[in-house]
Amino acid sequence: MIKYLGSKRRLVPVLTRICRAASANTALDLFTGTTRVAQAFKQLGVEVTAVDRARYSEVFARCYVATDATTVDKDDLRDALAYLASLPGEPGYFTDTFCVQSRFFQPFNGARVDAIRNALDHDFAGTSLYPLLLTSLIEAADRVDSTTGVQMAYVKEWAPRSYRPLELHVPELLVGRGHARRGDAVALGPQLGPFDLAYLDPPYNQHRYFTNYHIWETLVAWDDPAHYGVACKRVDARDDTTKSVFNTRRGMPEALCAVVRDVQARVLVLSYNDESWVSLDELREMCAARGAVEVLEFDSKRYVGAQIGIHNPSGERVGTVSHVRNLEYLLIAGERREVAHLARAARGVDP
Ligand SMILES: C[S@@+](CC[C@H](N)C(=O)[O-])C[C@H]1O[C@@H](n2cnc3c(N)ncnc32)[C@H](O)[C@@H]1O
Repeated sequence: MIKYLGSKRRLVPVLTRICRAASANTALDLFTGTTRVAQAFKQLGVEVTAVDRARYSEVFARCYVATDATTVDKDDLRDALAYLASLPGEPGYFTDTFCVQSRFFQPFNGARVDAIRNALDHDFAGTSLYPLLLTSLIEAADRVDSTTGVQMAYVKEWAPRSYRPLELHVPELLVGRGHARRGDAVALGPQLGPFDLAYLDPPYNQHRYFTNYHIWETLVAWDDPAHYGVACKRVDARDDTTKSVFNTRRGMPEALCAVVRDVQARVLVLSYNDESWVSLDELREMCAARGAVEVLEFDSKRYVGAQIGIHNPSGERVGTVSHVRNLEYLLIAGERREVAHLARAARGVDP
């Protein structure tokens, strides 16, 4: 899985306990990102629908959520990856933009990304292997990048991992049914379902996923966009169509309230934290529209920017970080007895 801001790796065990205790057969992961939570639900045998507005998230969801491992010929998949891995480097847009004009990857790896991505369109477009191979490529590129985990900037000196050669791994596919959808949570959320359980993990602040992961957007779109700035961001990052209401202080509370209210699910689980634009009381009130509400709190490390400090454009440390930990919330909403049962299960009190 790629490095991803707000990824819920640490919450997966507790979310798994909640999903199991709800005896869910169907679930929605509405801001699926890496799909890590959707994958955990699918591993319980749940039919999951994974939604996100990011192009790369849709690719991950098609690979890990919508693909039933039993339908994939493992030899075909391994052969296809071996063929792609054998291609000689072929410098193109990716190498020029992200290895020469900027320094996100070493040119020898960039040239291989160009060659593999071109071959994917040439040899595998429209096949069921396509999202699996593209997922493998994005994850391989992520393992040899030269960033701190976001693509607004690259590090001053090449990261040690960037010297390693790009390696395509076989994605760990899961057995079972699932669905991948790309779209806006506010528009799409209410149209889907009904589900036994809906998990909502929206962005918490003004930091946009579209710009933080613009290279993955481009690697999927493969559209050679004009770009701007030191990080070579896609010019359409300036368009309103690529902006999410969840990254605006003004629009986010109403949008979140609408999604929480309108999603069709018996149980709703909402992730949030204590340093965003909406207070815990306001979140509780939003969720109360669905019935009873229980809140779980988890002490957590803050996002990478807070860990590495504040730097000026030449990479010098210029400010101090006020704190490096925060509280992650999980709000569970639904019928009173069920919510109490799920909260106990989440805390590990009930099996
Ligand atoms: C906190 S991250 C989710 C992380 C995910 N749970 C994981 O563990 O990988 C928030 C996600 O919301 C997506 N997003 C932002 N605005 C959205 C919108 N309006 N509709 C759907 N997804 C959106 C982002 O692309 C990002 O993947």
